[in-house]
Amino acid sequence: ELKGETTVVVLGASGDLAKKKTFPALFGLFEQGHLPDDLHIIGYARTKMSDDEFHERQVGHIKPPSDDASEETKSAHKKALDKFKSVSSYIAGPYDKDEGFQALTEELEKLEKERGGKPNRVFYMALPPSVFTVVAEGLKKNCYAKEGINRIIIEKPFGKDTDSCAEMMTALKSQWTEEETFRIDHYLGKEMVKNVLLLRFGNVWLESSSNKNFISNVQITFKEPFGTEGRGGYFDEFGIIRDVCQNHLLQTLSVLTMERPVSFSAEDIRDEKVKVLRCISPIAREDTLLGQYVGAEGKPGYLEDDTVPKGSVCPTFAALALHINNPRWEGVPFIMKAGKALNEAKVEIRVQYKDVTPGIFEDVARNELVIRIQPSEAIYMKFNTKTPGLITRAIPTELDLTYKQRFSEAKIPEAYEALILDAFKGDHSNFVRDDELDVAWKIFTPILHWIDGKQGEAPKPESYPYGSRGPEGIDAFTSKYGFKRSNEG
Ligand code: BG6
Repeated sequence: ELKGETTVVVLGASGDLAKKKTFPALFGLFEQGHLPDDLHIIGYARTKMSDDEFHERQVGHIKPPSDDASEETKSAHKKALDKFKSVSSYIAGPYDKDEGFQALTEELEKLEKERGGKPNRVFYMALPPSVFTVVAEGLKKNCYAKEGINRIIIEKPFGKDTDSCAEMMTALKSQWTEEETFRIDHYLGKEMVKNVLLLRFGNVWLESSSNKNFISNVQITFKEPFGTEGRGGYFDEFGIIRDVCQNHLLQTLSVLTMERPVSFSAEDIRDEKVKVLRCISPIAREDTLLGQYVGAEGKPGYLEDDTVPKGSVCPTFAALALHINNPRWEGVPFIMKAGKALNEAKVEIRVQYKDVTPGIFEDVARNELVIRIQPSEAIYMKFNTKTPGLITRAIPTELDLTYKQRFSEAKIPEAYEALILDAFKGDHSNFVRDDELDVAWKIFTPILHWIDGKQGEAPKPESYPYGSRGPEGIDAFTSKYGFKRSNEG
């Protein structure tokens, strides 16, 4: 664990990721007293700004206490904000020249001298992928603390396919060891994703029924009610599969399906994740359904965004079926569904069990275990009970663990808070290991190359209206893999 004498350098400090995620998360941890007392934060980016201008940006996305919070809470928040700003400073410099990093080192050394003790440096790369490698090299060459602990935190996109990812990893690994590297997939920091291992391996009934004998199919669904407005140019280079399926949804799938780890250590957990991922065949073309949204009810279509290339066939929606070739999961389809500009905001895992053997009850709905990742964290089991009263008829109902009700006082941490704290503690459990990344890409690379038009003509996605449930074929697609929609909530 990093205790005292720590400086966090946020590279790309003037960008969106830093503003929206990194700084609010750092502040959340700082306010709750989770960070070392004599922490210092340095923002680094190309844009020239004064410390004051930087502070304005830095705290711009930090949520103030609600209006009805007590005066005490409000003043404590203000005090924490002022303190947070007072330990944060800014340096402007280039990403590709030593001189910028040398100025950064001078600042680091100055702060470290004032503080005394060993220097610990955490470099958080909130940067576009085009400069990842050059910055990682520049930092290693110029800013690496010889005596203290050095850590580097990076985040997707890690390349665009198996080869480009390998190239990037090789370049990074020539400078930074696996031990020093923390690859974020922020879904692994989400409370309900972190809960999956506990649910599975801490409940005998759940673990013993998590297999092909009981489960018909599993869906992992990601729905957002907004389109790519404003970031269409970036999105078009990647598409929905690279944006959320290959990383966030696959990570969720791997914790849901891995075998019990030997221990709860980072390496044991990640060994099991890699093992199950290696059992997944590359996704087949016939197991995909692609969509792209068109304008509806005053909302613009994907192609109407000026930053999107004309005639782009980039998918903004994908439904994919994955198959795990191991004895536990053989024959159980895992359906990933992800889309922008849909009818609601929802991310959930839905495990649908098999039918009850027929003969004694009519029309009993299938059991379903739903883990709602967001919004409003919940776990509920759809199950059947006798209709209360003098008749014996089954009625579908729910065993419901909605967090807001059951744990109303609990503060659910933001994903980035959980992960940054783990990185401070040196715990890699919820970070992506290099071999995990490689197998993850192998599952997706063939269909991505097909979609990119590298193997002949690119497939044309089906249109769906902004604000709808997705392309028309979606229900037929999920029922093809055994999902019965009758009892979907
Ligand atoms: C990001 C994607 O990785 O995850 C975005 O690039 C997406 O397109 C986001 O909106 C979703 O994260 P969250 O935490 O809002 O579900």
